[in-house]
Amino acid sequence: MVGNDKVNAPGSPTPRLEIRNLVRAYGGRRVVDDVSLTVMPGQVTCLLGPSGCGKSTTLRMIAGVEMQDAGEIWVDGNLICDTVFRVPPERRQIGLMFQDFALFPHLTVGANVAFGLTGSKAEKRERAEEMLSRVHLKRFIDAYPDSLSGGEQQRVALARALAPRPRIMLMDEPFSGLDNRLRDGIRDETLALMREEDTAVLLVTHEPEEAMRMADQIALMRDGRVVQLGAPYNVYTRPADKAAVAFFSDTNVLKAKVEGALAMTPFGRFLAPGHPDGTEVEIVFRPQHLRIDFDRGMPPAPTPTEGTPARAEVERARFLGNESLIEFKLVETGIRLKATVPNVFLPKVGTMLLLRVPRDRCFVFEAG
Ligand SMILES: Nc1ncnc2c1ncn2[C@@H]1O[C@H](COP(=O)(O)OP(=O)(O)OP(=O)(O)O)[C@@H](O)[C@H]1O
Ligand SMILES: [Mg+2]
Repeated sequence: MVGNDKVNAPGSPTPRLEIRNLVRAYGGRRVVDDVSLTVMPGQVTCLLGPSGCGKSTTLRMIAGVEMQDAGEIWVDGNLICDTVFRVPPERRQIGLMFQDFALFPHLTVGANVAFGLTGSKAEKRERAEEMLSRVHLKRFIDAYPDSLSGGEQQRVALARALAPRPRIMLMDEPFSGLDNRLRDGIRDETLALMREEDTAVLLVTHEPEEAMRMADQIALMRDGRVVQLGAPYNVYTRPADKAAVAFFSDTNVLKAKVEGALAMTPFGRFLAPGHPDGTEVEIVFRPQHLRIDFDRGMPPAPTPTEGTPARAEVERARFLGNESLIEFKLVETGIRLKATVPNVFLPKVGTMLLLRVPRDRCFVFEAG
């Protein structure tokens, strides 16, 4: 695993939630395999990864509805669960919000929000009112859930989950049932509320944009393991491997063999630090980083930052709304590459252009 950030260095504050070396196997297959991470109060950590990588299973163990085969769960510096000792789910002060959240249809909105609260009837009503005002739904306090829209119901569910002031919120794809426009608003509202309450949030998603938008820290998971842990910027700009690049965007790949600590490509030489001579490497970069120039017919001059430009023929160009996607074939080698550029740029098929690859945007990995 590549750790970009020191999350739990000696002398740093106690994490609200810490899981250590969690393992869960079904039928001999480890679907959660030695997962460790921390979440600080008022912060959001995202478990991000493809379907089946073990995100929900990790969450269920933290919630206490499923037992781990190995590993420990700590809250505010106290052990709450290992393979012997176990605080029951209802005593963990953990709030849950899942995609298929269900409000109780026979209870009013106010009663739904008050459901998990203790105290007098008046106190519960007051807290329910407070939470509903925070999500701008106080006017519905005496209505029944089925008279609310999907987005409104989701906000009630959020108010209900946060009403008992959980120390930790576990959210499993809670926004995936909403349309884009609603989703942005509810996400922002959710974040603001949880920061205010100093709740630690562990959010599961398989959407990179959602993780980038919401997380203070991303734990990128694959096959039950955390393959990279760090701030969104670090995970995006210093990916651990080719799959980590590909998870966030489309990729271009140039294959090469290292000789004299350099990898030779149609775009000139690339430094290949840490890769011994003879290693097959892949130079990986995102389509938005391919630079496009008009071919003025002069021999293109190499530069230290972008190497040698290569001639390429446009095979296809499409406008995607915010950007244009252009597909190229390199003239000399036939290698296919993709570029995205902001706004409208739709060169005709067959147009010859010059491409450059900025070295500081490339990742060199051993070929897998
Ligand atoms: N009770 C179970 N018995 C057997 N296998 C299970 C059980 N629960 C989950 N699995 C398997 O464990 C793996 C991880 O499942 P999990 O639900 O944690 O994935 P996920 O990352 O949440 O995926 P998704 O994004 O699709 O929700 C999957 O291969 C799943 O089929
Ligand atoms: Mg899941």
